[in-house]
Amino acid sequence: MARRGFDPVGLDLSPALLFRARAQGLRVSRGDMRALPFADASFELVLQLFTSFGYFERDVENAAVLAEVARVLAPGGRHVLDLMNKQRVLASLVPRSEELRGGVRWIQERCFDAVRRRVEKQVTCIDAAGRHDTWRESVVVYEPAEIAALLGTQGLQVEALWGDFGGRPFDLEAPRMIVIARR
Ligand SMILES: C[S@@+](CC[C@H](N)C(=O)[O-])C[C@H]1O[C@@H](n2cnc3c(N)ncnc32)[C@H](O)[C@@H]1O
Repeated sequence: MARRGFDPVGLDLSPALLFRARAQGLRVSRGDMRALPFADASFELVLQLFTSFGYFERDVENAAVLAEVARVLAPGGRHVLDLMNKQRVLASLVPRSEELRGGVRWIQERCFDAVRRRVEKQVTCIDAAGRHDTWRESVVVYEPAEIAALLGTQGLQVEALWGDFGGRPFDLEAPRMIVIARR
């Protein structure tokens, strides 16, 4: 975005990732997406890429993220939400995989919790000395109508649904669900 002449600012919660972005000369802020550290109507475009939505356990908190996006967008501004394609993910979910990378064994366990509509992943890595580290990732996967309704509650109207960044129309086999909404 910066190379193309825009004036982007990035936001993340992780100091380590922000440090790496800053090292590339990018302007970034640390903050929580439920309370953006930006003024009202200060952006023409908000990009939320690579499954950066649906993290919070309570629906009201996920809605709060969209409320913040709507608040910082200028009227007519656009929001791009790049999410997993639920049907494709569920059809191809691998419950357990294991691989060896650079002497480290990675074990990934995945499941879909239909009640909470969440894809849950547990990652364990074990190094050559037998040291373990485990963490969990958990994200809501949305149907197109669900995400459109949620965006609508925050004043964001869906304009287009893409299946990839080439603009392929969304369908059940599409690699991604990219939602383009307008304030
Ligand atoms: C799947 S990554 C996507 C990162 C980036 N959007 C990209 O496309 O490479 C999700 C990011 O969300 C950040 N994150 C997690 N919780 C957050 C929060 N409450 N507020 C802001 N960022 C958060 C994580 O630190 C992580 O970098």
